[in-house]
Amino acid sequence: MKRPLRRSFAVLLFVVLVGAASFSAALRRAVAPAPAREPPLPLDPARLNATLLRLAAVDPSEAPLRRDVDELLDGRLPASAARARAWRRDRLLHPLHLHHQRFPLPRRGRYPDEDHDTLLHPLPRHEQQLHIDPALRRALRSWHRLRRYDPAVLGSLPSLLSLPGRIPSCAVVGNSGILLRANHGALIDSHDAVFRLNNARIAGYAAHVGSKTNLSFINSNILHLCARRPGCFCHPYGHGVPILLYICQAAHFLDIAACNTTSSSRHGSPISVTDARLDILCARIVKYYSIRRFVAETGRAAEDWDRAHDAAMFHYSSGMQAIMVAVGVCDRVSVFGFGKSSDAKHHYHSNQKAELDLHDYEAEYAFYHDLAEHPQVVPFLKDAGFTVPPVIFYH
Ligand SMILES: *[C@@H]1O[C@H](CO)[C@@H](O)[C@H](O)[C@H]1NC(C)=O
Ligand SMILES: *[C@@H]1O[C@H](CO)[C@@H](O)[C@H](O)[C@H]1NC(C)=O
Ligand SMILES: *[C@@H]1O[C@H](CO)[C@@H](O)[C@H](O)[C@H]1NC(C)=O
Repeated sequence: MKRPLRRSFAVLLFVVLVGAASFSAALRRAVAPAPAREPPLPLDPARLNATLLRLAAVDPSEAPLRRDVDELLDGRLPASAARARAWRRDRLLHPLHLHHQRFPLPRRGRYPDEDHDTLLHPLPRHEQQLHIDPALRRALRSWHRLRRYDPAVLGSLPSLLSLPGRIPSCAVVGNSGILLRANHGALIDSHDAVFRLNNARIAGYAAHVGSKTNLSFINSNILHLCARRPGCFCHPYGHGVPILLYICQAAHFLDIAACNTTSSSRHGSPISVTDARLDILCARIVKYYSIRRFVAETGRAAEDWDRAHDAAMFHYSSGMQAIMVAVGVCDRVSVFGFGKSSDAKHHYHSNQKAELDLHDYEAEYAFYHDLAEHPQVVPFLKDAGFTVPPVIFYH
């Protein structure tokens, strides 16, 4: 009798212990925030920070970009196939760049004569050879050669942009609908230089957005669209306003070359391509903030960020590039028209609704917050001993 009793007692004790353990685990789950899934988070902030810095430095677009550049230099449209097809379908390939004599000139009308459209029925491969002239070849090569991490680029921007010196005060005007809530036009124009983005219209909005423009930032998708207009007209602020172009894909060098030969460049304002070292710096910073936000919001490991985002397509916005250039060349920076609001339009000048999901705007806002409030914590900027000038955001 004794033995079985002792055994069942032992079993009972075991059950009680397990019960207590699972009860306290349940209690811990109830009071603790959501449990981290595998692998466990590095809870130590310094270790997390080191992980963010390491991952932000990885550039997954490096290999695909190199491939695209090599293909272009070989005279082929980069095989990022879907996009290449879209180029042909949109008839955006400038006739200048094709050797093929029967290449149709751009026509009016949306779907002209599709049966005979060699763009919809691609030419045999040997007839698709692009003409890459020596200037284009040089421009593409030197741009690609500069794609490396060198935060000192920020301090070199005044000379890279051929400015006589730093500009005392600059206004960067974004395109958010929040601009319509205030009459900042005169304040914007009171700055020594005004930077604008992506050819946003100013006519009719002067009270809100001001009327002068000293530098126009566009991304190469916008240039790609204007490249098909007669005369490649991409200068809505006038021929005297220089354009700084943020390259989104290597094939957009074809647009630059096409626009280079037309009146826009002869009027003295050629399109300058942003130094690729600035791209690399901006990309690292925004990726750092994006991964940090991802870890904080999902509780997942920093390494999972790649899978949650289309890492190779991830871009920072033209707005961020404009702010970084302003920080690099101006002694005082005021920023207008950045930020979202449920009671404001996406763009002040259009009815566009959707956000592009290639960007992580929340991460960019977190970066801007640090830039304005405590720039000393922004990673990478101080690697080159750069001192951030005062930056003020107007909402
Ligand atoms: C555009 O023209 C300028 C000179 O007018 C030249 O330096 C530049 O390389 C050209 N760019 C391209 C992509 O051909
Ligand atoms: C900006 O443009 C205005 C005219 O639109 C001009 O008066 C001013 O000098 C320019 N600023 C700089 C820094 O060049
Ligand atoms: C993370 O590291 C960077 C670079 O050393 C530093 O600027 C930043 O202050 C660190 N941030 C935190 C939260 O430790």
